[in-house]
Amino acid sequence: MAEHLSQSELDYPFKLLEYLNGFRISKVIFAACELGVFELLMKSPGALSAQHVAQALDANADGMERLLDALVGIEILEVETADGTALYSSTDVANMYLARGGVKSLHDMVIYQSQTIYPLWNNMTDAVREGKNQNHKTFGIPPEEVFEAIYRSEEETLKFMGLMNSSWILDGQDVVTAFNLSGFQKIMDLGGCTGALARELAKAYPSSSVTVFDFLEIVEIARKHFLQENDTFTFESGDFFLGEVPPADLYVLARIVHDWSEEKCLRLLKKLYHACKPGGGVLLVEAMLLENRRGPIMTQLFSLNMLVQMEGRERPPSQYTMILNQSGFTNVQVCRTGKSYDAILAVK
Ligand SMILES: C[S@@+](CC[C@H](N)C(=O)[O-])C[C@H]1O[C@@H](n2cnc3c(N)ncnc32)[C@H](O)[C@@H]1O
Repeated sequence: MAEHLSQSELDYPFKLLEYLNGFRISKVIFAACELGVFELLMKSPGALSAQHVAQALDANADGMERLLDALVGIEILEVETADGTALYSSTDVANMYLARGGVKSLHDMVIYQSQTIYPLWNNMTDAVREGKNQNHKTFGIPPEEVFEAIYRSEEETLKFMGLMNSSWILDGQDVVTAFNLSGFQKIMDLGGCTGALARELAKAYPSSSVTVFDFLEIVEIARKHFLQENDTFTFESGDFFLGEVPPADLYVLARIVHDWSEEKCLRLLKKLYHACKPGGGVLLVEAMLLENRRGPIMTQLFSLNMLVQMEGRERPPSQYTMILNQSGFTNVQVCRTGKSYDAILAVK
C-alpha cells in the first residue's frame, strides 16, 4: 500500500504545496481558454512567440509570456528557443480537449468552471458552515431556486447546457453500454438537457425509441443549438416534479438524483415506478462514491459542488440501492465504468 500523505510529506510537503496551489493551475487553463490561446496555436502552422500570441489575442506581451510559460510548466504546451526567442506550440492534448470546436473539446466545461463554478466555490466556507448552496451570495437567487439560478440568463443557460453536453463526449458510450439495454423499447432520458446522452443511447440501441424530456425552454434551446443532422431521438417537454411523466420502458436519470434531497428523489422515483409496467426500469447515471469513504476524490469534489450549487449530494452505491428499493424498484445492479460516471440499473 502507498505511504500515506501524512507520513510521506513530513520531510517536505511536495504534494501539499501542489494542492494549495491547485486553484492557480485551474486558473491558468481557464485564462488560456478564455483568451483563445489553444485555438490560435492549433491553427498556427509553426510555433509562435509570446509577443505574436499577445498581439493576435489583444493581450499584454509580458502577461502572455508568463501564462504560456506556466502552460509549458504543466505540460499543456511545448516551448523551444530559437535565437534567444521562446517559441510556443500546442500539444495533442491541448488540441483535442482544450481548443474550441474539436470533436472532444472540453472548452464549454472549462468556461463554465471558470465563470460560474469558480465564483460559487469562493463561498465554500459559508456553504459548509450553513449546509446550503451559495446561489444567494453569488448570484442573488434564493437557495431553493436551484434551476432558476442555473438558468438565470440566456447566456448562462447556454453555458450550462454546453457543460452538460461536454461530459458525454468522454463518458457517454461507457455509461450507455454499462448494461445491455436493448430489451427496453421506449427509453426516456428525463432531464436529458441537450440530448448528448440520448444521442449515445440512440446509437447503441438503434431499435429502441429514445426521447429527451426536459423543461420546454430547454427543449427549445436544445433543438436550436445542439441537435445534429443525423439525430434520431425526439423531445418531449414538461416538469417531472409537477406533472405526469410520459410512459416509458426505461427511464434514464443522468445527474438528476444527485441534484436533489433524498425526499425529492423518492418522490420522483416513486412516480417513475408507477409510470412504468412490470419489467420496466430505471437507469441512474452518477459519479459514485466508494463505500469506505476514501474516494474517488473527483466524486468527493462533485459532492461539495452539489452543496455549493444545488440541493443534493453524491452517494455511494448502497444509498442509491436504498432509495431505489424504497421507491419499489428491485434487482439493483451497479456498474463502475472506471471513468467519471457510473451506472445503476433497477427494474420494476
Ligand atoms: C444536472 S442536469 C443533467 C442533464 C443531463 N441529464 C446530463 O447528465 O447531461 C439536470 C437536468 O434536469 C432538468 N430538470 C431539472 N428539473 C426538472 C424538472 N422539474 N422537470 C424537467 N426537467 C428538469 C434540467 O433542465 C437539466 O437539463
